[in-house]
Amino acid sequence: MEFNSGQFGDEFNWGVSAAAYQVEGAHDTDGKGPSIWDAFANTPGRVFGGHQANTTCDFYNLYAQDIALMSIMKIPNFRFSISWSRILPNGTGAINYKGIEFYDKVINFCNELGIEPWITLYHWDLPLALEKRGGWTNREVVNWFGNFVEVCIKAFGHKVKHWMVLNEPLVFTGAGYFLGVHAPGRKGLNNFLAAAHYAALCQAEGARIIKAIQPGCKVGTTISCSYIQPYRATEADHRAAIRVDALVNRLFIEPLVGLGYPVNDFKTLQRLEQYVKDGDEQRLAFDMDFIGVQNYTREIVSHSPFTPLIWAKIIEAKKRNVPHTTMNWEVYPECMYEMLKKYSAYNIKELVVTENGAAFNDKISDGIVHDVERTQYLQKHIQQVLRAKNEGINVTGYFVWSFTDNFEWAEGYVPTFGLVHVDFATQKRIIKTSGNWYGKFISGVPVNTLKQSSQFV
Ligand code: BGC
Repeated sequence: MEFNSGQFGDEFNWGVSAAAYQVEGAHDTDGKGPSIWDAFANTPGRVFGGHQANTTCDFYNLYAQDIALMSIMKIPNFRFSISWSRILPNGTGAINYKGIEFYDKVINFCNELGIEPWITLYHWDLPLALEKRGGWTNREVVNWFGNFVEVCIKAFGHKVKHWMVLNEPLVFTGAGYFLGVHAPGRKGLNNFLAAAHYAALCQAEGARIIKAIQPGCKVGTTISCSYIQPYRATEADHRAAIRVDALVNRLFIEPLVGLGYPVNDFKTLQRLEQYVKDGDEQRLAFDMDFIGVQNYTREIVSHSPFTPLIWAKIIEAKKRNVPHTTMNWEVYPECMYEMLKKYSAYNIKELVVTENGAAFNDKISDGIVHDVERTQYLQKHIQQVLRAKNEGINVTGYFVWSFTDNFEWAEGYVPTFGLVHVDFATQKRIIKTSGNWYGKFISGVPVNTLKQSSQFV
């Protein structure tokens, strides 16, 4: 079957995504304050191999080169995030004008090259000073965050149209405050539930602030999601899948659209109530211009008597012997279609795939990174976006995670997701075959999914 970018229409937003902590480096340059990730990654035993992101891709210094590369690759939209502690080193209080200047330069250069900047306000790097005051488990975070949003919108709102409030609240609250495997490394149900409720408040309050200051902006927020299916056709596995789906896919979207938390399908969430105050239910809701759907895989779950609270476990891709990436995430392109269908049911004005991509074991040979698997992964997932669009789902954009290889959180530099390879010792960039392909595809070159091998050069 052949398809091309033209079938998505002229208005469709093709792009690439990145996040401040994963690419910027310059962790203490020009007045930047430390974030929870600086502290976490610099604590032995927290990140694979002791990797840290003090320099990572050095985007802070190399932004012009990277944005110019994007332009050469004909990528029209760039999604990146703002480091809160670069703007407000203590999280609140005095503004670091050098930080404002940096993002101003990035935005201006994008605009100059005809690349539209899309900004995420929070991609997991809370100022360390705020974590010392309780971080996401302190209700005050709603005010702290509101203040940060206000500073950013006042500084950049007149030249950036698309804003995303949070990146994947389930991941930073779940991995960071329940499992302790991401910064700040805290554990426990109460930490998670408090963080989740305050993050849900922030996603709506942040959007309200953006719209109040710059009504012409398009505001959204991003949500991680996985297509959840039961392992066996048993009642117990089916019910486990419903609980996991409520947690993984519904926890942050449903309060936002005014449905409240999905407590009926995952009873543990009833314990959120202890953090909910009068008026919160209304404050949790906001009519977003778009939702950023971030999907990579599906999860197969079974009932488990050994995992209290959720009573479910994920059957890993490796164990199921199915194709998977270096993250051990199954390659299952239909999940993209299923997720777009699922989120379209919430009647959001627009859905944008703000992240999709894959980590594979890239090899350089004669200066070329011939990443056939990633190219195929992207083609197949984009095809599923088209399938959803052709069925009338209002999906208006697709962004690859990620533009360059970068710091993959607790996994360090091992999994590489980039369309562009980075040699972290020399900072040399090489556009991978997938990057060349993506640029050509955006420019109109069709994909023939039957003749895969001829597409890659
Ligand atoms: C995050 C990215 C991350 C990617 C791959 C998403 O969960 O937003 O920061 O690098 O997935 O794991």
